[in-house]
Amino acid sequence: MARDTIFSPSFGNRPTYLVGREAVLGRLIAGLESVPGSRERSTIMLGQRGTGKTVLLWELADRAEGLGFVVASPTVVSEDLLTRVVEKIQERGARYARDPQNRLTGGSVGALGFSVGLEFSPELQETKSNQFKLTQLARRLTQAGHGILILVDELQANSPEIRQLVTVYQEMVGERLNVALVMAGLPGAVSATLNDKVLTFLNRSSRLELAPLSLGDVDAYYSRAFHDLGLSVTDERRARAVEFTRGSPYLMQLVGHNIVVRAAADGAVSDDDLARALSASQADFERDVCETTLSSLSGKDVEFLCAMARDDGPSRTADVADRMDATVDYAQKYRRRLIDAGVIEVASRGYVRFAVPFLRDYLRDRE
Ligand SMILES: Nc1ncnc2c1ncn2[C@@H]1O[C@H](COP(=O)(O)OP(=O)(O)OP(=O)(O)O)[C@@H](O)[C@H]1O
Ligand SMILES: [Mg+2]
Repeated sequence: MARDTIFSPSFGNRPTYLVGREAVLGRLIAGLESVPGSRERSTIMLGQRGTGKTVLLWELADRAEGLGFVVASPTVVSEDLLTRVVEKIQERGARYARDPQNRLTGGSVGALGFSVGLEFSPELQETKSNQFKLTQLARRLTQAGHGILILVDELQANSPEIRQLVTVYQEMVGERLNVALVMAGLPGAVSATLNDKVLTFLNRSSRLELAPLSLGDVDAYYSRAFHDLGLSVTDERRARAVEFTRGSPYLMQLVGHNIVVRAAADGAVSDDDLARALSASQADFERDVCETTLSSLSGKDVEFLCAMARDDGPSRTADVADRMDATVDYAQKYRRRLIDAGVIEVASRGYVRFAVPFLRDYLRDRE
């Protein structure tokens, strides 16, 4: 068995090499470089499980720091979201606030309520809200010529914390402070059922939908990785592995890893090894992605999907309604919900197909 030093199929794990996301990163960086307040400064990144949202946020964090931004590294939406963002900015930005000149000349710096660096005076620390603190940090860092980038992961757009963050962000933008915001979540995270204020903000932000990786990129990556690991995989077998990933980054890691651990000591990968690697990857993917995707849906949503799973290719909405014993109007409602959740997509007029790899197989096996 070969030792795998390249593939790392595990959520949130930074890959040894980030495949095929240069264009997306370029867009995000261009947003940071646009003038404060422009629409590109706030971005919503949406993608199914395992499309690489978390690792992209971390990559962006590194690159933005290189550009002089003070970055609040990806924070998962939770009750103390704002507190954590404030603390992260204090920690990462301290080095930009040590300028002794500012302390001597900056009456305004003291006036912002800082004692030393980006630490707040005890009074302010105790009595002021996180929104207030965040604004003071943005004022201080904008003065020092540095932007703030706030990264939010696992966006729950209907949470009070996001409402607070969005409100204070808009106020800071109004003041022309140098701030930027990137939030990542599942496709269903931004739905029309949200309260108006947050929804309006999200709709005005720039939207980035994470597409599957191109198979050409996956192929180039496998080719190099297998070579570096001393594996001999024929072109035809590698092509099968590439095809199997459907461009899903998580599947790409799973398939790569499962091939490596099944290779012979001399690096040879037989047809049999490949077949076993692929089916093990599918099982892992079904458990980690298909199962969790279904568990967040309603019984009727799942019924719609099961009705779809009876087709080998795209499904006609009218047929699905028929199988559900429902009117087309009724089925339309679930069709819409599932499209919003990124579980299915429009294939052509009147037809939908699965947007999550192996979901059809998973549903059929469950029946
Ligand atoms: N561009 C990429 N190149 C190589 N590997 C990647 C890439 N994007 C993601 N991965 C790998 O895919 C897996 C899933 O990535 P990640 O955890 O970022 O997905 P996610 O979209 O945040 O998923 P979830 O919605 O479940 O949080 C990880 O093992 C990660 O290393
Ligand atoms: Mg994630």
